[in-house]
Amino acid sequence: MACMLIDGKKIAGEIQEELAQEVAALKEKGVTPGLAVILVGEDPASQMYVQMKGRTCKKLGMHSETIILPDATTEQELLQRIDGLNADPRIHGILVQLPLPSHIREDRVIEAIHPDKDVDAFHPYNVGRMFAGSPSFLPATPAGIQQLLLRSGVETAGKRAVVVGRSNIVGKPVAALLMQKGPGGDATVTLAHSRTRDLGQVTREAEILIVAVGKANFISRDMVRPGAVIIDAGTNKVDDPGSEKGYRWVGDVDFEAVKDVCAAITPVPGGVGPMTIAMLMSNTLRAAENTLA
Ligand code: GUN
Repeated sequence: MACMLIDGKKIAGEIQEELAQEVAALKEKGVTPGLAVILVGEDPASQMYVQMKGRTCKKLGMHSETIILPDATTEQELLQRIDGLNADPRIHGILVQLPLPSHIREDRVIEAIHPDKDVDAFHPYNVGRMFAGSPSFLPATPAGIQQLLLRSGVETAGKRAVVVGRSNIVGKPVAALLMQKGPGGDATVTLAHSRTRDLGQVTREAEILIVAVGKANFISRDMVRPGAVIIDAGTNKVDDPGSEKGYRWVGDVDFEAVKDVCAAITPVPGGVGPMTIAMLMSNTLRAAENTLA
């Protein structure tokens, strides 16, 4: 079976062009959208994401601040930085890259960000509004996945969707979006995770399979229903002595093994990742627009 490649890079590029025009229009009104990104520690995937976020901000004409703090930063110090950004009128969006070092309580940090500047939509206020179907911001990766499905013409209504992974960043919210009423929703959603019995039997039910577990090549060919649409939200750094850099990025799905059994799949890199960044930029633009309303 010839499998369609869902080109996240291309779709994200189209969204970025739309956003760049909206940014220019907002600047005419005297407001430059500003995003602050805080990274604590040296997680390699996080470093890559943070760099991409800063670069994309600048490309779209937005103001960008990247704050890199050492692994030993205390929770108190981080909360103080957030307070400063909450009060800073040039900053419309604040994002603390996750995961945080284990001595910092993630919930305290997320709840310190003002909900109006919470462009990740991780604050309980925004999570609650999303679940109720009256969102302020949508979380970037789940919203990006939904846009990929919508913009590639994948029907979700009435379909069996299986989400593997129950993180607050991807698994739980993407399940919520897919079960919501309306375009890109109306799916019958199963959420599977590390304690799911006979995972392969569950994933083989999936007409749409969304994977966010953070384990390289976790989904093998025998776990995929022929004709499924696969969305791979994994970003795993693996050694590759043959390559120039000595490493490469792979997803959670064994791409080579499944590519002729599925109907469509997102590549890694170039699938979900660029969409996450585009959605974050969109949230930052909305946050800036909201200051005029
Ligand atoms: N870590 C992995 N994905 C994300 C994301 O979308 N936002 C933040 N803040 N951290 C992440």
